[in-house]
Amino acid sequence: MGKTFIMDHPLVKHKITLLRDETTGTKEFRTLVEEISMLMGYEALRDLPTEPVKVKTPITETVQPMLTGGKLAIVPILRAGLGMVSGLLALVPNAKVGHIGLARDEETHKPYEYYCKLPKAVSDMTVILPDPMLATGGSAIHAIDFIKTKGCRKIKFLCLIAAPEGLEALQKAHPDIDIYVGNVDEGLNENSYIVPGLGDAGDRIFGTL
Ligand code: PRP
Ligand code: URA
Repeated sequence: MGKTFIMDHPLVKHKITLLRDETTGTKEFRTLVEEISMLMGYEALRDLPTEPVKVKTPITETVQPMLTGGKLAIVPILRAGLGMVSGLLALVPNAKVGHIGLARDEETHKPYEYYCKLPKAVSDMTVILPDPMLATGGSAIHAIDFIKTKGCRKIKFLCLIAAPEGLEALQKAHPDIDIYVGNVDEGLNENSYIVPGLGDAGDRIFGTL
């Protein structure tokens, strides 16, 4: 059974508040997304396996833990998930990176797929799936359906802001995955945008407003 972790760290909350501010420009927005991703990645990677290795300090020889490495894939949901990759890679620079291209149809708000490329050995890997926004949940559910068809079972979804509706839908559709959420907001508006939210995450990251 998967678990849901709602961040309670003041640094995460503070930085999300700055993200929400409509006067926050593209450069600062990108930096904040990267920083929050790093802070959330720190939580999400708590169970990374380590192995004992010998190390010689200036004082003595000792046996200490080191990451075993490998078996980790970061798979952003395009476009906005791309903004979270650099923060996560700063923590685990050797991770493989896949891509899932999804966009929401402006009328139906349902996601459609336009590009998908995952690492070959993904069935053996833990997949970290970042996307800043979990609104209706359609995109995350679709992405996880796709990753599971490739045989992968260990998936951690990371989002900065979730609507309660999307969070519930994701938990119901994929009860086996772990979900990390920066903040759960009030809900969705008539255009399925998160309220209060931060607007269109992709547009704010890439300056396409
Ligand atoms: C946004 C966001 C999620 C999706 C969330 O992407 O980054 O992928 O919407 O909405 P949902 O939970 O209702 O599916 P969008 O479709 O705007 O594409 P973009 O990242 O290319 O801007
Ligand atoms: N996608 C976004 O970028 N923002 C929302 O509020 C909902 C979907």
